[in-house]
Amino acid sequence: MPTNKQVLLAARPKGEVKESDFRIVDVELPALGDGEVRVQNHFLSLDPYMRGRMDDAKSYAASTKLGEVMTGGTVGEVVESKNPKFAKGDRVLSMSGWQQYAQNDGRGMQKIDTSKLPISVYLGSVGMPGVTAWYGLKQIGKPKTGETVVVSAASGAVGSVVGQLAKSLGCRAVGVAGGREKCDYVVKELGFDACVDYKAGNLDADLMAAAPSGIDIYFDNVGGAVLDAVFKQLNAFARIPLCGLISGYSGGAFPLNNYRALLVNRVNLQGFIVSEHMEFWPQALQELGSAVAGGRIKYRESVAQGLENAPKAFMGMLKGENFGKQLVKLI
Ligand SMILES: NC(=O)c1ccc[n+]([C@@H]2O[C@H](COP(=O)([O-])OP(=O)(O)OC[C@H]3O[C@@H](n4cnc5c(N)ncnc54)[C@H](OP(=O)(O)O)[C@@H]3O)[C@@H](O)[C@H]2O)c1
Repeated sequence: MPTNKQVLLAARPKGEVKESDFRIVDVELPALGDGEVRVQNHFLSLDPYMRGRMDDAKSYAASTKLGEVMTGGTVGEVVESKNPKFAKGDRVLSMSGWQQYAQNDGRGMQKIDTSKLPISVYLGSVGMPGVTAWYGLKQIGKPKTGETVVVSAASGAVGSVVGQLAKSLGCRAVGVAGGREKCDYVVKELGFDACVDYKAGNLDADLMAAAPSGIDIYFDNVGGAVLDAVFKQLNAFARIPLCGLISGYSGGAFPLNNYRALLVNRVNLQGFIVSEHMEFWPQALQELGSAVAGGRIKYRESVAQGLENAPKAFMGMLKGENFGKQLVKLI
């Protein structure tokens, strides 16, 4: 029987996540029962929402319990099946968590077609992050041709898709990202019109130069100082799809001094959780799949090697050390 390496939640982080908040164990897999399927995971997705699951605070989803396998999406291959719905060799997407194998009755496992797309992309642009971008921009942002769309964490899994979709809809796409290298990538490789390096120290002036007609849609992935700076440059009837607040995930609060702008500009700011809008997923995945396969949406991946390196990669992602979708390669 194969041994299954797992990463468990060992302690609830106080502030920044530490290596000691995780425990890595090896467990022997039981023999496959009737109706069960065993999947060897190829890639694990690391996503910012996992930081919230490590806390014991009220949220839209239940916390991971101490001693449980860390929550996470994976893609892999069926290696043994006693379930008529799955055959050996099928490629599947599931919420297996941070572990090498998934073994269960197949509930929640979804077959994926890897004939035109690499398997890892189902965790990124053609997966949950891509749908998040699609839903937030189209359903909440409601972009119109000629409008200016600003998105933070612009080189990342969600932000990169937001800007490329905005361009395809005839908008001016402006990214906000940490550092010159990420900003160059966003403009030169992804085709955004401009990108502001929020770490350069001229946020207000740089935003104004990048969005000279003001901001109609701000897709917020980070909250904090960037959100407060954007407030000052919103146009009347601007929309803010509030997707994430990563600048505050490790604790601490940032005062919003320009909140008044929401009233005077009659702004619609709406938080959303993509998993609560499943009715849009088939259409979004179909559009994203064909755009990625056709090269109209580009993406980049940061790939850590081996499950034992998942905690380090996760801690790095929360500090912006990833460049594109953060994955862990498991085999
Ligand atoms: N609402 C939903 O349903 C939903 C679904 C998926 C994701 N999300 C949210 O979407 C956001 C982006 O997720 P993702 O998967 O695409 O991650 P990502 O952008 O691939 O990676 C996270 C990025 O956040 C940026 N960041 C980290 N700390 C920051 C700080 N203090 N200030 C500003 N930026 C910081 C870093 O980019 P820089 O180097 O550019 O700063 C980092 O690379 C997250 O907030 C996540 O929670 C929400």
